[in-house]
Amino acid sequence: MPLVSMRQLLDEAAKGGYGVGAFNVNNMEQIQAIMEAARDTKSPVIIQASRGARAYSQDKFLYHLMLAAAELYPEIPLVMHLDHGNSFATCKSAIDLGFTSVMMDGSLKEDGKTPTTFDENVEVTRAVVEIAHAKGVTVEGEIGVLGGIEDGHGAGGSGLEHVTDPEQAVEFVEKTGVDALAIAIGTSHGAYKFSSKPDGSVLKMDVLMEIHRRLPNVHLVMHGSSSVPKDLQDVINQYGGKLKPTWGVPVEEIQLGIRNGVRKINVDTDNRLAITGAIRKVFAETPEKFDPRDYMKPARDAMKKVVALRMTQFGQAGHAGDYAPISIDEMKKYYTKAAAK
Ligand code: G3H
Ligand code: 13P
Ligand code: ZN
Repeated sequence: MPLVSMRQLLDEAAKGGYGVGAFNVNNMEQIQAIMEAARDTKSPVIIQASRGARAYSQDKFLYHLMLAAAELYPEIPLVMHLDHGNSFATCKSAIDLGFTSVMMDGSLKEDGKTPTTFDENVEVTRAVVEIAHAKGVTVEGEIGVLGGIEDGHGAGGSGLEHVTDPEQAVEFVEKTGVDALAIAIGTSHGAYKFSSKPDGSVLKMDVLMEIHRRLPNVHLVMHGSSSVPKDLQDVINQYGGKLKPTWGVPVEEIQLGIRNGVRKINVDTDNRLAITGAIRKVFAETPEKFDPRDYMKPARDAMKKVVALRMTQFGQAGHAGDYAPISIDEMKKYYTKAAAK
């Protein structure tokens, strides 16, 4: 199966009332872990690369690994998505390379740190929508700002400083024509999201529900959605790591989000924790080993386990064979027709 459009995947998820995990990758083993989890659970899947991932991997390597994944797992609908594009140029270069979906994160300026004005966000996102849709490529926008900093990207702060305003969300969608909308409801990127288990009020689920009430047909996206499980933290700390106590987003809150319009759930940190724990364990228990395969295989297996669990919890499991892929070329016609209406 060729790489498919995220719009189609999310439209299908909306029909089926489930969510789709979007997992970040930087290398071959992470792509393999996700594809094996997708095969085992029969899940459609979104694989995403940040700017940092594109730089780390030289993105052409990553792109060809994705083509290999599509070829080796033909039964899995697979999207290649740009995570947190910081500018028109970044999104354009991803589209030119062959990504089938891009995020224009216009909530922050090009520096990836400073919040933009509403008008600046609309302007850059609208421009990306124009070039993306002309090529059949999906666009995710963001309104409101997440907390935390990853790889230099992010406004910092607690995640509650720039919660999305539902009225602005409606105006933003009308003015930009995005396919999916990332909203800020109190989550942050990275491992340190909350200092105790967050409940529905800390997470502003009421804001999410209000946005869904006003925009029932828009696919909502939850960033910063790692659950930061205690057992993964414990493995790292047991084998010499130094993570401070921390809490992530409880899976039951994500499931509540899915019942209220969330279709894409971004997860990176949980997989980073799983990989690091597995590698530390090999290093600590068998310090004589030096073949990278001796620790990369357990690392890949540990990530596969986390991804398969999330695919089941988000509800995408079992849906890989529900539909035939619409080609990116066909999607061009879809957008042309939609624009003519
Ligand atoms: O949005 C953040 C993702 O976890 C990607 O992180 O920018 O460190 O690759 P990164
Ligand atoms: P986490 O850091 O919670 O995994 O969030 C990842 C993310 O939102 C990527 O865009
Ligand atoms: Zn994110």
